[in-house]
Amino acid sequence: MSKRIEINDLDIYYGDFKAVEGVTVDIEPRAVTAFIGPSGCGKSTVLRSLNRMHEVISGAWVDGEVLLDGANLYGPGVDPVNVRRQIGMVFQRPNPFPTMTIRENVLAGVLLNNRRMSKSDQDDLVERSLRGANLWNEVKDRLGVPGSGLSGGQQQRLCIARAIAVSPDVLLMDEPCSALDPISTLAIEDLIEELKTEYTIVIVTHNMQQASRVSDKTAFFNIAGTGKPGKLIEFDETAKIFSNPTVQATEDYVSGRFG
Ligand SMILES: Nc1ncnc2c1ncn2[C@@H]1O[C@H](COP(=O)(O)OP(=O)(O)OP(=O)(O)O)[C@@H](O)[C@H]1O
Ligand SMILES: [Mg+2]
Repeated sequence: MSKRIEINDLDIYYGDFKAVEGVTVDIEPRAVTAFIGPSGCGKSTVLRSLNRMHEVISGAWVDGEVLLDGANLYGPGVDPVNVRRQIGMVFQRPNPFPTMTIRENVLAGVLLNNRRMSKSDQDDLVERSLRGANLWNEVKDRLGVPGSGLSGGQQQRLCIARAIAVSPDVLLMDEPCSALDPISTLAIEDLIEELKTEYTIVIVTHNMQQASRVSDKTAFFNIAGTGKPGKLIEFDETAKIFSNPTVQATEDYVSGRFG
């Protein structure tokens, strides 16, 4: 289920504006890779380019390669919808579908692809996905109530359940804890730790403690100034990035001297 992503010399544009330049990174399966760096350096932009969500924005495009276990996601004839099914995404603000129940939220993506799933298969999948997201015990007696009625941390775990219900190979998370309290944040971090045994995970975070707690590899991005493209400055084992980085700018950022 877990696959490798190789990014080769990727430039990412919004119309004429080159937001990110020359990114080359190898993202390992069954591991957590953190993207860190100051606001505007392109972390979310790079993340969205990994499942072809970037091009949903009008005028947005990329130049370069993103390989999923060797297959170019931007190759001719590749269906972006299929890419997004293989590479799921969890956003900063929990976004359960407000009119749907907890159960319907978990099944939303699956039923798009497979309308004729039997009731008992659906029940199994709902339980498995909610257990996978560490939410089952809290909601098993109220699967029929609206997902929007859950707490913020529960809603975020519901979104994770929805993302894993379609059996993706990769999970992308853009600041998944930034709207959550510390307890919910730790719950999500524990969950990420468990999920990495099955998935390739990429997480964007502004929280340095979080990056060092949850990730195996860290990519530090930076930007030279307004209007300049963001670049990958350093990519290494998380322990190395936080204790003994090679580049001065990385050192300055992780030690809180800027950003
Ligand atoms: N929809 C868009 N249209 C045009 N430019 C955009 C769009 N989204 C982002 N950008 C620009 O691309 C650059 C990178 O933005 P991005 O959101 O990827 O940064 P980020 O590192 O995720 O920042 P933050 O930490 O604040 O979330 C910025 O200059 C930003 O203004
Ligand atoms: Mg962002």
